[in-house]
Amino acid sequence: EIPVVSTPGELLSVAVRIAREAAVTARRMRDEAIGDVQTKSTDTDVVTAADKAVERQVVEALKAERPGDGVLGEEYGDSLDPAPGAVRWILDPIDGTVNYLYGLPQYAVSLAAERDGEVVAGVVVNAATGDEWTATVGGGAWRAGRRLSGSERTTLDQCLVATGFGYDARRRAHQGAVMARLITRVRDIRRLGAASLDLCLTAEGSLDAYFEKGLNLWDHAAGGLIAAEAGLIVAGLSGEPAGNRMLVAAPPAIFPVLHDALVELDAAGGP
Ligand code: IPD
Ligand code: CA
Ligand code: CA
Ligand code: CA
Repeated sequence: EIPVVSTPGELLSVAVRIAREAAVTARRMRDEAIGDVQTKSTDTDVVTAADKAVERQVVEALKAERPGDGVLGEEYGDSLDPAPGAVRWILDPIDGTVNYLYGLPQYAVSLAAERDGEVVAGVVVNAATGDEWTATVGGGAWRAGRRLSGSERTTLDQCLVATGFGYDARRRAHQGAVMARLITRVRDIRRLGAASLDLCLTAEGSLDAYFEKGLNLWDHAAGGLIAAEAGLIVAGLSGEPAGNRMLVAAPPAIFPVLHDALVELDAAGGP
């Protein structure tokens, strides 16, 4: 297939339309019957029938609309391989599956378009509330027609900092120890349960900063662009790009001091 060339804005409108439909499916399945619940890497790492159904729906929609593009999703991996130069869509069908399981209204569909290894458009839809955050590269980050610019706080001790823990017990022990020491240096800590929404809430300043170790690309592709386009620094530690080893999202005034605290507490260390 010949790849369809599109601007980031065009890719975003495709992403928004498909993510909204996916969010409706997630919400409907939550209301009607959550279906089969299985575990993946550990006993606490759950996946529901809805996670899989939403991913299949998005893959089918992209295949029909954008033949030639690739899709990387959490539940089925590389469903479609991109032709050279084509777009690769990065999908987390339900981010916050544990919240979904418990009926907590903090779970989202996260969909991003990547070209030549760069995320150029992304949308996160809170499927419980319908709230929506979007960004295109160079085009800013937006929620409900309002441009986002992050928190204006300038000292770490005034910051509400969000984080998350993966599903691995040994890693959690290390991260809990980091947390125990960080809590005395910040206003408070939040663990809301969906990385994509943590990034969007940081982008809009409802959280001052966010960090997490162990994320996968589908957790942060869309939300990371939204946070960066809101003017935040989104990076790893010691000059590394944001990724599995560490992602920190914070306003420029906060990033260096949070970064140094995380290095000192060895937040990227451990298992
Ligand atoms: C998880 C959530 C959680 C984060 C985990 C992720 P999932 O994604 O984003 O907040 O702490 O690292 O794996 O499994 O609910 O899509
Ligand atoms: Ca998962
Ligand atoms: Ca996720
Ligand atoms: Ca997921």
